[in-house]
Amino acid sequence: MTIRATIQDGIAIIELARPQRKNAITAEMYGEMADALAAAAHDEAVCAVVLHGADTVFSAGNDIQDFLERPPSSETSATVRFMNTLDAQEKPVIAAVNGAAVGIGTTLLMHCDLVYSADDAMFSMPFVSLGLCPEFASSLLVPLSAGYHKAAEKLLFGEPISAEEALEMGIVNRLLPPAEVLDYALHQARRFRALPPVAVRETKRLLKAGWRQLVHNAMTTEMETFRRLLGSAESKEALNAFLERRKPDFSRAAHG
Ligand code: COA
Repeated sequence: MTIRATIQDGIAIIELARPQRKNAITAEMYGEMADALAAAAHDEAVCAVVLHGADTVFSAGNDIQDFLERPPSSETSATVRFMNTLDAQEKPVIAAVNGAAVGIGTTLLMHCDLVYSADDAMFSMPFVSLGLCPEFASSLLVPLSAGYHKAAEKLLFGEPISAEEALEMGIVNRLLPPAEVLDYALHQARRFRALPPVAVRETKRLLKAGWRQLVHNAMTTEMETFRRLLGSAESKEALNAFLERRKPDFSRAAHG
């Protein structure tokens, strides 16, 4: 099993459950998450969604092997369906982050409404070092939260972002001791049970209305670039180097 999706007392809980692969996300998992998010959206009894990983890792991002074998080549790919379903979710989505959140493990957080993180969690968006570019509107949403220069540093160098720095950058709400993160996220989710659902939904819609179209435009142009780069010699070298556990040699790509 790679995703566990349950509904408990009006809270839809989605767990990434592939710890042996550091919760790296395959096309199958994107599909399962999209289905769970859509089910939560349609279930009148659900008032909020909580998304979490394991105690030791949130997600290592795209599964690189799966990525090479099944690239997100069309608008109907499971990856794009997951992105669109999370982006369109009308109910509050709360993320609980423990351990590493890499690539889409970090960028998906920009689409959650509340993000609670362990005080020792680590975030990163290493797209450039993989020969790729930002995705899931992160080229828009990271500068919007953190300012252009901080975003440029983190996206161009793919530098790790400590939990403290993530808080300063405005991409998480609150840091907690690791053992308390999930409980706190569930506690916050339960608060929505006492609130009027239509007013919550409309407020979320209005909060996002100012940049909804910009997010869609960014997702479209990023995905076009991402697909082109995924076929490039640079990204093939970087992704194969990861799988072969060696440092990439981009001079090979230049001559490849
Ligand atoms: N895709 C495929 N497999 C992955 C993976 C990914 N994104 N991330 C980790 N794995 C695999 C490793 O290859 C390793 O496999 P093995 O046991 O067969 O050797 C296993 O999961 C454990 O990973 P490891 O790197 O040994 O764990 P760690 O605790 O030292 O580090 C991370 C954890 C998440 C920091 C590290 O795995 C990492 O940085 N992963 C790469 C993430 C990445 O670049 N993602 C962006 C994709 S766009």
